[in-house]
Amino acid sequence: MIPFVDLKTQYKLIEEEIRSEIEKVLQQGNFILGEQLTEFEEAFADFCDSQYCIGVASGTDALCLALHVLGIGPGDEVITAANTFVATVFAISYVGAIPVLVDIDPTTYNIDLDIVEKKITSRTKVIIPVHLYGRSVDMGKLLKIASKYGISIIEDACQAHGAIWEGKKVGSWGTMGCFSFYPAKNLGAYGDGGAIVTSDKHLYEKLRMLRNYGSPKKYHHDIVGYNSRLDTLQAAILRVKLRHLDDWNKKRVENAIFYNEKLKDIGDLVLPEIRKDGSHVFHLYVVRTKERDALLSYLKENGVQCGIHYPIPIYSLGAYSTLGYTPNEFPITEAFSKQILSLPMYPELNEAQMSTVVSLIKKFYQGRE
Ligand SMILES: Cc1ncc(COP(=O)(O)O)c(C=O)c1O
Repeated sequence: MIPFVDLKTQYKLIEEEIRSEIEKVLQQGNFILGEQLTEFEEAFADFCDSQYCIGVASGTDALCLALHVLGIGPGDEVITAANTFVATVFAISYVGAIPVLVDIDPTTYNIDLDIVEKKITSRTKVIIPVHLYGRSVDMGKLLKIASKYGISIIEDACQAHGAIWEGKKVGSWGTMGCFSFYPAKNLGAYGDGGAIVTSDKHLYEKLRMLRNYGSPKKYHHDIVGYNSRLDTLQAAILRVKLRHLDDWNKKRVENAIFYNEKLKDIGDLVLPEIRKDGSHVFHLYVVRTKERDALLSYLKENGVQCGIHYPIPIYSLGAYSTLGYTPNEFPITEAFSKQILSLPMYPELNEAQMSTVVSLIKKFYQGRE
């Protein structure tokens, strides 16, 4: 059996470090807003080339609070990618704004920046680029578009911890960058968690209040806020894991290179582009084939777990039927949703496991010639 993700193997490698940090928190009993949270926030801000970090309860909350702090609300439009995880769009809905969906670029699988400009109206307040699968959006180009129209950028970096665009970490390009620490992410907690990074002091101070009942100090509630704090325990775990993140990301890229070398010229498989500039941290390794469903079943029957990210685009979800979009407005997203397949990808994946995946895929296509 080759699992899609393998958190148990990773835990064994860092068990001692993790246990000792958890024990400290248990002994201190500082479960909410403890010193380990501050320590992690400082380290993660630094890691992301940002001044500040605010730990929150999830990536979804990070996006929601980022929109909230900018005063985004009913009547405002927020542009994002049609192929993202639903949480990006839920955050837009939570503040009462209107999601405006954009098709994707067929090479990067990210929002098509040439279409973005055409979707901007007088009501557009924010663009949320999603660094999907761990691959950075062209942030230089996007920033130019946004500044031309005076629109803010909130990066959805929930799948791209540590990815670099032109020398600067993702999350630090926009007004704010949002991260998820869902366990399977490149930097994952042992439960839910998230963070916002920013270099704007005013936004930082307001976000710290927003995540903690709108409170600047105990029993003072200056604004209507949320209960959305990153637990001290999770922060302590993340602080340990952050020390390993660069190595883990490097290993992911090496694994992607291995897959790409072994899988080239097989059947109709389209492989992801390998970027050597750090702009892709391979949270997911996604291939495309017209025979996706048959290949998925074949791999499953032979003990290889795969995923599809994501099989139903936002505009076809029940929750968004009222937006009134039709699939033919998003030809690339629509076609790719039927062809994409995510193969097992994690730093601990070894060569023997990848070779098994590769030979099964070869066998699958041999049977079809
Ligand atoms: C692109 C993207 N946006 C937002 C989220 C939401 O993060 P969370 O699950 O931590 O709420 C996720 C992850 O699940 C994601 O992959």
